[in-house]
Amino acid sequence: MRNVMKKTCIALLCAFLPLSAQAAGGGSANLEHVEIRLNDTHSLQNGAKIFVNYCLGCHSADYMRYNRLSADLDIPEEIVLRDMISSDAKIGDPMTAVMPVKKSAEWFGVTPPDLSLTGRLRDAKWLYNYFISFYVDPDSVSGWNNTVFENVAMPHVLADLQGRRTAVFTTDEDGQKKFDRFEVQTEGQMSDEEFKSAMKDLTGFLVYVGEPVKLKRVKYGIYVMLFLFVLAFLSWMLKTEYWRDIKSSH
Ligand code: HEC
Repeated sequence: MRNVMKKTCIALLCAFLPLSAQAAGGGSANLEHVEIRLNDTHSLQNGAKIFVNYCLGCHSADYMRYNRLSADLDIPEEIVLRDMISSDAKIGDPMTAVMPVKKSAEWFGVTPPDLSLTGRLRDAKWLYNYFISFYVDPDSVSGWNNTVFENVAMPHVLADLQGRRTAVFTTDEDGQKKFDRFEVQTEGQMSDEEFKSAMKDLTGFLVYVGEPVKLKRVKYGIYVMLFLFVLAFLSWMLKTEYWRDIKSSH
């Protein structure tokens, strides 16, 4: 009887362990930490608003349709139609860039990539740091550069909000150029804190777009916790069983 119990515990543990291992994730070094708020609908709505107003001119998110956005983010379809669609797109259409791909390739030298999967290709930390790291660079074609994405072809489209900043670099012992700090040239409409909060919302929105089912996963988090408790209980039972055998053999 005891053997059967032991085997059942081991079998259950083996079945559960690979699942719980998936809860772990990766990250990139030397960048500012960011905590995105996927369970905060207001934050995602704000991210969507920024995306539509400042990014959709050049970038598409072709895997995302307006009606899915409306359902997932709790934005009524009338509001999506009125405030979020400036082209002749319909509510069931994907979020396609306003600017034709050919034109943007001519202007920027590269086509602004579709951002549907960017939240997965680049992690949240990278995206957030990229958005807050633009600086004025008179030597670049657009007049802008970025410490996270050197010589990027994208201009700082949020400069009105963040303000204009220059970057100060130092040279280390090996003669390598090293970023030291930003210096404010002109203030933007937002304080540093407000801008960073808005960029968190924008990052959260892109992570959501990259994997819309993630919203459901966040909600399932509570079940995962319950499941981990069951796992701990099973391990404890197993340990007790083994110890009983060891003790009785003496
Ligand atoms: C004026 C056109 C334009 C606008 C508006 C614009 N971008 Fe870009 N974006 C570009 C171009 C061009 C690139 C490609 C840069 C390169 O490869 O050097 C780019 C690159 C990017 C990348 C890097 C993609 C990657 O993985 O390499 C991200 C992320 C991005 N943009 C996000 C945004 C967001 C978010 C907004 C809105 C706040 C925005 N962009 C607005 C033109 C634009």
